[in-house]
Amino acid sequence: MDKFLIKGGAPLRGKIEISGAKNSALPCLAATLLSAETVILHNVPYVKDLITQRRLLEDLGATALTPELRTHKITAKNIETFEAPYELVKTMRASVLALGPLLARFGQAKVSLPGGCAIGTRPIDLHLKAFEQLGATVSLEAGDVVARAPKGRLVGANVSFEKVTVTGTENVMMAASLASGKTTIHNAACEPEIEDLADLLNKMGARIKGAGTSVIEIEGVEALGGAEHTIIPDRIETGTFIVAAAITEGELEIKNCAPAHLTAVIEKLREAGVEIEELNPTTLLVKCCPNGLTAKDVTTEPHPLFPTDMQAQYMALMTQAAGVSTITETIFENRFMHASELIRLGAKIDISGNTARVSGKTQLMGAPVQASDLRASASLVLAGLAASGETLIDRVYHIDRGYENIVKKLGNVGAKIERLTESLALAAEDVK
Ligand code: UD1
Repeated sequence: MDKFLIKGGAPLRGKIEISGAKNSALPCLAATLLSAETVILHNVPYVKDLITQRRLLEDLGATALTPELRTHKITAKNIETFEAPYELVKTMRASVLALGPLLARFGQAKVSLPGGCAIGTRPIDLHLKAFEQLGATVSLEAGDVVARAPKGRLVGANVSFEKVTVTGTENVMMAASLASGKTTIHNAACEPEIEDLADLLNKMGARIKGAGTSVIEIEGVEALGGAEHTIIPDRIETGTFIVAAAITEGELEIKNCAPAHLTAVIEKLREAGVEIEELNPTTLLVKCCPNGLTAKDVTTEPHPLFPTDMQAQYMALMTQAAGVSTITETIFENRFMHASELIRLGAKIDISGNTARVSGKTQLMGAPVQASDLRASASLVLAGLAASGETLIDRVYHIDRGYENIVKKLGNVGAKIERLTESLALAAEDVK
């Protein structure tokens, strides 16, 4: 397995570009299944999850072309099977986003039930309940979810989510676009990725209003057409690089980002002492920190509040802040796997239930650590950049799922980070 070797202590300086949002590109690729016509998506990040999602579309019978890097031209005309197999779903949970489109367009879908994952059980019961409200029958057969629309077409309905779910909202929005009649989603997720998906669907001919708010109205249409769409910038990658500048006491110009999508993160980091200036609507200048960092508490919540996907990176930063910060995780159980690895690097963190108390500032020292999920990997990279000496991060395949070219991007702004392929990684371990 590949590893990252980081020699910490170098302040990051320079310009860094943000890629397209993984969590927007995933549902947008799934949405191409709703039409027999060609959909062209630009700014799709070159990361493992998107390669997997595209493979799923191709396995279903869609044709996928890459006219240029990060542009996908998908035509889902001749769909031959309606099934997302376990091999794919187990590597990437977002393949459940194929359910809504397949069910809506073909009246049937079979998707393997995602199992537990590193950050909790993550069920899809709310997706399935909503499909039933749209008239589908849903059953579980040999580990697969099998959904059918009895008369071949879903019927618009009132869907009220008892808990805010991002991919659940996306699945229902896609399914309702081709249902007969009107669907209203209450307690919908408000993430920017939902708005981006609605933009694409509306370009394809859907009639969706209210995306980005907690009530979304969808007038079903008979068929959807082709469209061309550019994916929004990745707000979590943006937040990660803001923390990278701060934790190394460097200065980074972050380009091609959408600061309006991460207001809560920017506000919290400013409170903690990070200087963040908006040079223009797509560029941030981050400097840190003339007066040092101060510990500030944070609680993860659905958008527009502080995202769970920035919790691990924030925890790494708080190890460098003076005082005690309390970090409360309300979205996922078991999302503190990075804490024990940060402790290996010298952090002082106490976990109790869904709360972590970080005492800083601690001098981190490089050590071998292990990534457990995508954002946990990012937090270990950040801690490694701040630590003295060498940090060797194992299982970086997690980071490949969602961060485009992170080694190159960070290397270009002065980080001493390299990727060790399996044989080199073993040699580096021998030296220790
Ligand atoms: C999406 C993001 C992920 C992010 C998360 C929360 C994508 C591809 N992934 O994941 O990066 O961390 O939102 O912002 O966009 N739940 C249920 N039943 C369901 C669905 C969800 O109980 O049917 C629970 C989950 O276990 C969790 C909470 O609801 O506790 C929120 O999960 P959800 O918003 O659905 O996360 P994802 O869409 O999987």
